[in-house]
Amino acid sequence: SMEKLWAGRFAKALDETADDFNSSISFDSKLYRQDITGSMAHAAMLGARNIISGEDAEKIIAALQGILEDLDAGKLQIDRSCEDIHMFVEAELTKRIGDTGKRLHTARSRNDQVALDLRMYLRDETHKIISLLKDTIRAVTEQAEQNKDAILPGYTHLQRAQPITFGHHLMAYAMMFLRDIGRLRDAVKRMNVSPLGSCALAGTTYDTDRRFTAEKLGFDGITANSIDGVSDRDFCVELCAAFSLIMMHLSRFAEEIVLWSSWEFKFIELDDSFTTGSSIMPQKKNPDMAELVRGKTGRVYGSLITLLTMLKGLPLAYNKDMQEDKEAVFDSLETVQKCLEVFAPMIRTFTVCRENMRRAAQQGFINATDLADYLVKKGLPFRSAYKITGQIVAYCIREKKVLETLSLEEYKTFSPLFENDLYEAIRLEACVDRRISEGGTSVASVEKQIAQVMEFLKHDESIY
Ligand code: ARG
Repeated sequence: SMEKLWAGRFAKALDETADDFNSSISFDSKLYRQDITGSMAHAAMLGARNIISGEDAEKIIAALQGILEDLDAGKLQIDRSCEDIHMFVEAELTKRIGDTGKRLHTARSRNDQVALDLRMYLRDETHKIISLLKDTIRAVTEQAEQNKDAILPGYTHLQRAQPITFGHHLMAYAMMFLRDIGRLRDAVKRMNVSPLGSCALAGTTYDTDRRFTAEKLGFDGITANSIDGVSDRDFCVELCAAFSLIMMHLSRFAEEIVLWSSWEFKFIELDDSFTTGSSIMPQKKNPDMAELVRGKTGRVYGSLITLLTMLKGLPLAYNKDMQEDKEAVFDSLETVQKCLEVFAPMIRTFTVCRENMRRAAQQGFINATDLADYLVKKGLPFRSAYKITGQIVAYCIREKKVLETLSLEEYKTFSPLFENDLYEAIRLEACVDRRISEGGTSVASVEKQIAQVMEFLKHDESIY
């Protein structure tokens, strides 16, 4: 491995196992683009402030540009014997332009450098997650549009509760994903300030211009305290918390998909291209993608706890513990990304078994509330109507009947208020269509929700 920058201070080289243990290049090499563009902005600032000569600045910037291009083109390999990506870029720069390269690290430290790189990287990657979320919302909304009048039982306690439309149920998820986008945007807003120029922790004696680099690198401002600038990883925690909520939403959805695609429900059928067979049972068609999404949720929660725990006992400012931030946040980012990439097309391609939904809706007395409401409209207090309806349900269960198949004579034995119009009142479509309250399950209300989401997707402005 190459000689350390600090070899002058040390009598012995670092133990090989310790060197390995200390190294982060296997995972922070992901940051090469941010590291190089950050360094280019820093060099430009040093030149503009006459901290280094304009000529040196230009030379450094050109060489850094060359390194970036060579890395992008695969012409230059990252040397894994370097401790981290920052050391590698500086070593490569010095290899290319000699002593001039050694001037880059003036008025800077790896502490503000890594904080800068990470903020830039996460900011950019978060935009990709937002666009994947939008695609997922689009897929959900398209299915909702096609199934806005498909009736199925809505559940509480996983017991059939009231009739709803499938479009309504799906749009509940669209609302969750919209909030997820909002949370990511909030996190990016706080993340997008530049720590560069905080240096090791105390700032610097050089006459730097932190706003110059911040602006060049697309930040909205600069961190206000140099100690905070190098020791803050709140932005990783916030992002991981937002990722955890995305995964929680995906996982609930995944759980329903697993249930719905079982023979017991058969409300949907997943497309062959998003299911797998069994190595032994020829009849099987398994919802592996949904299960994996549900399973990977724990990983992302784990990263959140890793970050919170890593930070809780750290004295200010930088501590090497903080090198652990990257694997946690990178893994959760990548997991969310992969899950969303498979989720949207899985939603888009499943087929809906409307008859099965309808059949399930017909069998659980899910229109009992509507029967009670019928009696209320005829003048009975709700509590009395509720009690009578309960007795009718018990009678139906004893007689193996449902509310629709009970005769008017039978109804009249429970209350003289029952007339022939009760059957229309408990018809499932009528039950759904009467739920006209804003945000309710009627087709008109679901159409409104769909329109609201489509409007958001079109203009990309938060509707909250
Ligand atoms: N690889 C280090 C990290 O990821 C970079 C910062 C090193 N700073 C230091 N003082 N050792 O945190």
